[in-house]
Amino acid sequence: MGYQTIAIEKVTGGLGAEVRGVDLSRPLGDAVAGELRRALVDHLVLFFRGQRLTPEQQIAFSRLYGPLQRVPYVRPMEGFPDVIRVLKEADERRISTFGNAWHSDFSFLEEPPMASILYALEVPEHGGDTLWIDMYEAYEALSDGMKRMLRGLRAMHSGRPYGVTGAPPKDLRTSRSIGIERNNPEADREVAHPVVRRHPESGRKALFVNSIYTGRFEDMSEAESRPLLDYLYQHALRPEFACRFRWQPGSLAVWDNRCTMHYAVNDYDGSRRLLHRTQVQGEKPMLAD
Ligand SMILES: [Fe+2]
Repeated sequence: MGYQTIAIEKVTGGLGAEVRGVDLSRPLGDAVAGELRRALVDHLVLFFRGQRLTPEQQIAFSRLYGPLQRVPYVRPMEGFPDVIRVLKEADERRISTFGNAWHSDFSFLEEPPMASILYALEVPEHGGDTLWIDMYEAYEALSDGMKRMLRGLRAMHSGRPYGVTGAPPKDLRTSRSIGIERNNPEADREVAHPVVRRHPESGRKALFVNSIYTGRFEDMSEAESRPLLDYLYQHALRPEFACRFRWQPGSLAVWDNRCTMHYAVNDYDGSRRLLHRTQVQGEKPMLAD
């Protein structure tokens, strides 16, 4: 196997880095694989451009970060149970798209995915960007008093409010192209996760609540929880904590769901957008002491 030199360049003063000089369709040597694992821990989101990946090759690359995880309520791609097609057709106007509110992927699972991988096949001429927020920075920017208050707290996550809470009004349909199953008991039950979780690799503390899936604090009502949750969501959305990616055909992004939130901008009515998505099994979120 040939020796590959990769270059990693940060895209903001905070999170996000672009990786150059690697062809993800080919098996990666141990040195490059190790570098890409470390780079994800260091930068939280990695971007690659100009890739050409079959679903099999995307699956092989995704395994660099761990075993793949299937999702409970989205219909997978025909013949590839580990891949979902994130698709909005050109004629789908005024709909709620997949990921169109701030969230950490499938945070309502007992073991939410540690990483997600999106590979762009067809993208609009402009628009359809994705944004990420650094939830370490969001945590660290809180006052000592607020950090003390959040210490040891858990919050309840559920897949049920998807498309209702923090998302466009109910009369807006979700994309027919995604195939989200409703009323899936596995997605609808509530799961408690630490509000501040410790990242198993970096050892750092990250805020772990999000506006789609986190409805309340444990042992508290939604009404009681709402003001503080809303404050935390609003606090996290500082431009200094964010990065934004403009997709091209052949772009790939991999991000760490344990310490980021993301948002898919729905500003491209009239254009078709198709990405292939895979995700890597994560662990049960660890309470930060
Ligand atoms: Fe997402």
